Amino acid sequence: MRIGCPKEIKPQEFRVGLTPHAAREAASHGHEVLVEAGAGAGAGFSDEDYRAAGARLVDTAEQLFAEAELIVKVKEPQPVERRRLREGQLLFTYLHLAPDPEQTRDLMASGVTAIAYETVTDGRGGLPLLAPMSEVAGRLAPQVGAWTLQKANGGRGVLLGGVPGVGPAKVVVIGGGVVGTHAARIAAGMGADVTVLDRSLPRLRALDEAFGTLFRTAYASSGTTAELVTAADLVIGAVLIPGAAAPKLVSRAQLGTMKPGAAIVDVAIDQGGCFETSRPTTHQDPIYEVDGVMHYCVANMPGAVARTSTLALGNATMPFLLALADKGWKRACEEDPHLLAGLNTHAGHLTYYAVGRALEIDVLSPQLALKM
Ligand SMILES: NC(=O)c1ccc[n+]([C@@H]2O[C@H](COP(=O)([O-])OP(=O)(O)OC[C@H]3O[C@@H](n4cnc5c(N)ncnc54)[C@H](O)[C@@H]3O)[C@@H](O)[C@H]2O)c1
Repeated sequence: MRIGCPKEIKPQEFRVGLTPHAAREAASHGHEVLVEAGAGAGAGFSDEDYRAAGARLVDTAEQLFAEAELIVKVKEPQPVERRRLREGQLLFTYLHLAPDPEQTRDLMASGVTAIAYETVTDGRGGLPLLAPMSEVAGRLAPQVGAWTLQKANGGRGVLLGGVPGVGPAKVVVIGGGVVGTHAARIAAGMGADVTVLDRSLPRLRALDEAFGTLFRTAYASSGTTAELVTAADLVIGAVLIPGAAAPKLVSRAQLGTMKPGAAIVDVAIDQGGCFETSRPTTHQDPIYEVDGVMHYCVANMPGAVARTSTLALGNATMPFLLALADKGWKRACEEDPHLLAGLNTHAGHLTYYAVGRALEIDVLSPQLALKM
């Protein structure tokens, strides 16, 4: 199959859909790999790296979209890219169609067969192509939280790990899923005094079993949450209710009980955030202050570490990409229901029920799409 990887054109996106490692792997499976010149630059991969991996460099996105049978990307196709898609072509990328009727209509009109990273599933009820970005954001959260706590950034001037004779900072992580687990682990590794709150007892048990005394766990009743937030130097928001906006767990009134200069890192901001006072910020201007509390609410945290994020995403997408290229999308999806769960559009039809419900569009069942 002819696989094409264009340069991402969404503002501030530095990741790339195909690493040189993945290009080499695809080429070794007998596929032809096209990469747009400069596509990997933001993630630290040169054109030469791709050439050495067996890819052919093409000068323009137009040429790449025209020639490729399978397009692999990171972000949802932008309007100019959507106009280049066609029926019979396969698109493999993040789409997030539910809040985006315009993109959904364009993808349906193009006829493209689109498999969305974020809806591919695994056998343990997880989302294997979303998890690597949660891992990155989780591990980054204590790092940006530590920076936010510095005096020059408006923080209370507390060092996460303390020093001999001076106690560590108190870090509270609300939500002990993928983001929360990784955040807690790194914060504890930096020497902070960490507590993870969750509403799921099985989740708290799993954390306790895996990490022992590295950090504490607590059941996220509203009373316990309020108590811990009041005492915290840094609070990391990491909750998710799948398919719903993040619940507001800390009100503006509660903010007033926090220490002046305490910091909040609301990783759940991409779902609206779990603090009443959260609003999305950017890497250019990441923090702001409300009632003396510093807020960091960047909605695309993994973009700050584009190289690590690209490599992590590439590791997760590669087996699916190879299956799609080796077998064609129909056989690959017939043999793997988890990959079929990623099918969002095909030949003018919407094939994902949750998006259909959100946008009030009729859905063709993915199983029927396989028979078309
Ligand atoms: N800002 C970013 O750049 C970025 C990057 C990656 C992920 N995220 C977001 O981070 C959030 C967390 O993602 P995840 O992968 O860890 O999800 P996850 O499903 O693995 O974990 C969410 C956890 O929240 C818990 N939870 C739900 N309601 C709760 C409540 N009321 N109180 C306490 N705990 C509660 C759940 O039990 C679960 O353990 C999501 O909104 C995700 O979209 C943001």
